[in-house]
Amino acid sequence: MNSSAGASGPAKIRIRHLQDAMRAGRPFSMLTSYDQYSAQAFERAGIEVLLVGDSAGTTVLGHDSTVHTTHEDIRVFTAAVARSVTRPLIVADLAFGTYQAGPSDAIRHGVDLVRAGAEAVKLEGGHEIVPQVTALVQAGIPVMGHLGFTPQSVNALSGHRVQGRDHQAADRLADDALALQEAGAFALVLELVPSSLAQRITEVLSIPTIGIGAGPHCDGQVLVWQDMAGLSGFEGKFVRRFAHLREELERAAREYRGAVEGREYPGPEHSFD
Ligand code: KIV
Repeated sequence: MNSSAGASGPAKIRIRHLQDAMRAGRPFSMLTSYDQYSAQAFERAGIEVLLVGDSAGTTVLGHDSTVHTTHEDIRVFTAAVARSVTRPLIVADLAFGTYQAGPSDAIRHGVDLVRAGAEAVKLEGGHEIVPQVTALVQAGIPVMGHLGFTPQSVNALSGHRVQGRDHQAADRLADDALALQEAGAFALVLELVPSSLAQRITEVLSIPTIGIGAGPHCDGQVLVWQDMAGLSGFEGKFVRRFAHLREELERAAREYRGAVEGREYPGPEHSFD
């Protein structure tokens, strides 16, 4: 894989390319995306994986938790991203409540997301969702797992907290990771776990791990794009801002307003005869 899309490397990122990258020790990048322009910018930047995450509920739709993001929300955003790019692998989240009841629910919603343009689905949980993962994989739908802090369980986990800090919890997480791999998951997101635990899991698994607040040892990294680009204002310890879009957008809007109020915009060059 390459640092700029289209220069060389595969024209289309497939699961096997992530596995090749892992074997070669080449870290890869995943960003969330929910719309045309962000998806196209990330494709041009060479981002390998776009995640249509249920974080859309909190970053786009104004909810305070991903439990409010619906399957329909994700379906619409997935279709928008899929229409907009060709190269990145597109992964879509199964929304809270669309797979917990059992494998047939998971397949029904997974099929729907694939029809919308997803090339894989992500779901949260460990041993308890192994039947769903197995069923999805058997149905031909690639599955990305998600362990550690799992935002759909924010209430059960008593808020946003680093997971797997003590020995027992760390062992449980490592067991869950192996169970997901055994069930056929092709990659695993590790969110908010100590970096030593992420390293241990990464070393034990033969599928790529993708970290978010999980330190530097994972095979890939993921961030919510509005955090990465400084649009959200979120200041989690694990986030590095690579731009300051919030300030830039505000500046542009203020300047626009000033130009309108000062009758400086639109000018003759923006007007029709
Ligand atoms: O929905 C999302 O954005 C995610 C990432 C935090 C991994 O699941």
